[in-house]
Amino acid sequence: MRGKFITLEGIDGAGKSSHLAFIADQISARKIEVIRTREPGGTPLGEALRGIVLNEPMHAETEALLVFASRREHLAKVIEPALAQGAWVISDRFTDSTYAYQCGGRGLPESRAAILEDWVHRHLQPDLTILFDAPLAIARERLDRGTSEPDKFEREQNEFFGRVKAAYLKRAAEFPGRIKVIDSAGSMDDIRSTLTILLAALDRDERP
Ligand code: TYD
Repeated sequence: MRGKFITLEGIDGAGKSSHLAFIADQISARKIEVIRTREPGGTPLGEALRGIVLNEPMHAETEALLVFASRREHLAKVIEPALAQGAWVISDRFTDSTYAYQCGGRGLPESRAAILEDWVHRHLQPDLTILFDAPLAIARERLDRGTSEPDKFEREQNEFFGRVKAAYLKRAAEFPGRIKVIDSAGSMDDIRSTLTILLAALDRDERP
C-alpha cells in the first residue's frame, strides 16, 4: 500500500521543527516506516541548493526556480520511491512554502508558482499539511532566542512575515481538507493531542 505524505509548514519561528520528532514517533508506533526530510534539501543536490537559496540575495523568480529544482530532485530520489514502498514521508516544508514565501512574501504572482507546481508534481499533493500558526511577535521572539546565525529569510522584517503568514492562511482556507492549522502558541499538550488525532485520522484514511 502506498505511504502517506505529510508536510509541515509555518513562518520562521513558528516552532514546526520541534514537533517533527513527535509526529515521526507517532507514526513509528503504528509500525509504519517513516522518512523525515526537508525542503529546500532532502538530497545532496537539494542541500547544495538550500545553501544558495538561504544565503544569496536573488530575484524572486530565481528563488522559486531553485526551490522547485530542489523539489524535483527530492520527489524523484526520496519522496516518490519511499511512498511507493509504503513508507510515510514527513517533509519539513514543501510547495505551500513557495506560495507563502515567494508569492506572499516576495510578491511573485501565484500563477507562476502554479506553473511550476503543475510541471513538477501535477499528480502528487501531500495527504496532510500541518500549518503551525503563531502570532508574529512570538515567532520573532523564538528567532531572536536562536543561537545560530540568522539566514536571509530570518533576517527579514515583520512586514515580510506578516505577508507570509497571511498567504499561508489563505492557502489553508483554499484547501481545508488538506491543510490543518494548529495554533503553535498553544500548550504542548494541546498541540500533541491535535497531532495525534490528525495522524490517527490519516491512518484510517479519512480527513477529520
Ligand atoms: P527552515 O525550514 O525554517 O529551516 P531552519 O529551521 O533550519 O531555519 O528554513 C528554510 C527557509 O527556506 C525558510 O525561511 C523558508 C524558505 N523557503 C522558501 O522561501 N521557499 C520554499 O519553497 C521553501 C521550501 C523554503
